[in-house]
Amino acid sequence: MKKLMAANWKMYKTRAEAEQTAKELVRLVGSLPEDREVLVFPPFTSIDVVTSVFEGHAGFFVGGQDFYTEQEGAFTGEIAPSMLVDCGARYGLAGHSERRHVLGETDVFVGDKTAFGLASGLKVVLCVGELLEERKADKVQEVLSRQIRAGLKGVPHDVDPASLAVAYEPVWAIGTGEVAGSDEIKDAHAICRNELIELFGDKGNDIRILYGGSVKPDNCSGIISLDNVDGVLVGGASLQGESFSKIVLA
Ligand code: G3H
Repeated sequence: MKKLMAANWKMYKTRAEAEQTAKELVRLVGSLPEDREVLVFPPFTSIDVVTSVFEGHAGFFVGGQDFYTEQEGAFTGEIAPSMLVDCGARYGLAGHSERRHVLGETDVFVGDKTAFGLASGLKVVLCVGELLEERKADKVQEVLSRQIRAGLKGVPHDVDPASLAVAYEPVWAIGTGEVAGSDEIKDAHAICRNELIELFGDKGNDIRILYGGSVKPDNCSGIISLDNVDGVLVGGASLQGESFSKIVLA
């Protein structure tokens, strides 16, 4: 299974900045190792420019940070999976912690989104993760199980495992500089893996599980060598080509 090294640029970068960073990334990564894939989630407005930069570079993919659960209609401000595909995106994020906790997305809505995105031909990265108070209350297993079960509720049992990934992002580690410890990551990823096996049988072993939360060039190689860590989802440290290229090659 190739490691998926994903960048979430959140609400940063103009089109010119996105183009420059994507070019720098491709240049600094050079020939991508066989066991790696690169995925960048730019703002919607830069999906096409990053797609153009990645053209001809095998293993480099683009995704949309969000999408809606309809293909078209009177849904002001929303974007359909097919529109992302039309701009060059092959992946979509569902249920990122900022959408759950800043914009109020529910488990059920995230589940509808994941199923609809997959049915529309996007590969989907479903994000899950507990709040600090949930960890302190010993509720990590409960929260991850709930978010995974609801998030994958409408996904068919015969799903292509390559079209789905789960990103474990403890909310307290996002953008804080406080990376989760090795045991915390291993335990959480084991919970995710078991849920995936419960839902999809053996295929659950082939669904990638990414870690996200304060991943940096100097902690990435330790993280991706842990059991059940099949890649990373990086925010802050993905904004510069220099630091993200080091993460991709870690
Ligand atoms: O999607 C990425 C995560 O929110 C992690 O962000 O690397 O800035 O902690 P961060």
